[in-house]
Amino acid sequence: MQIGILGSGLMGGKLGTIFARAGHDVVFSYARSEQKLKELAAEAKGKARPGTPREAVQGADAVLLAVHWSRVDDVLNQAGDVSRKVIVSCSLPMNAADTDLVIAHTSSGAEELAKKVPKARVVSAFNTVPSEVLFGVFEARRRTKRPSLVYCGDDSRSKKIAAELIHDVGFEPVDAGPLRIARYTEPFALLVAQLAYEGEEGPELAYRFERFGK
Ligand SMILES: NC(=O)c1ccc[n+]([C@@H]2O[C@H](COP(=O)([O-])OP(=O)(O)OC[C@H]3O[C@@H](n4cnc5c(N)ncnc54)[C@H](OP(=O)(O)O)[C@@H]3O)[C@@H](O)[C@H]2O)c1
Repeated sequence: MQIGILGSGLMGGKLGTIFARAGHDVVFSYARSEQKLKELAAEAKGKARPGTPREAVQGADAVLLAVHWSRVDDVLNQAGDVSRKVIVSCSLPMNAADTDLVIAHTSSGAEELAKKVPKARVVSAFNTVPSEVLFGVFEARRRTKRPSLVYCGDDSRSKKIAAELIHDVGFEPVDAGPLRIARYTEPFALLVAQLAYEGEEGPELAYRFERFGK
């Protein structure tokens, strides 16, 4: 697949690299320096290249949205027409200080995003668990089982692509149902992140949540 990366930071950089190494054609875009995008593409060692957000979206089978919530409008403006594109979003609707969700619990970031891009197919993914915490826990326990990663959406074609991508980056994709489920997983993600990063028992708690969900 051709995958456009909108936001080439921690999430976009790592996921784009893994997608390129899995054989996908990746365009890294949206960082504060072009040099960084060039370096990411070179280090990815697969079929990866730097580009503008518009170039990342043109011809893409899937687009990964991986910017802070406060940058979503800007990157979408730069990307141009995203009609009929599959947008896999990992952008959590957080405030600038990352201390709270900026939406009421009657909606979700994925639903708000879907309103901004009504002709695109939005899938909420990669935003339900702090992955590095779970990977650390699994490594410590020498478990061989892949950690689960839930995703949701209303479009079956988009969800199939999302599941493939989730599988490619090392998780077991778990279909949580329709897009509206995102409004329940986002506060949960925030809770797990807070427990994981703020509490001394954090990773253990994240692990228990994961087991509890099975
Ligand atoms: N990190 C996680 O574990 C995690 C997990 C789940 C969900 N998320 C969500 O995923 C999203 C991205 O997180 P992240 O950790 O990948 O963030 P990040 O590392 O800060 O990446 C954001 C990207 O946006 C770029 N950017 C920011 N402001 C810009 C500007 N004014 N002009 C051009 N580019 C700009 C950054 O450029 P530079 O590269 O130059 O800094 C970076 O490439 C967030 O919504 C976060 O809540 C993150």
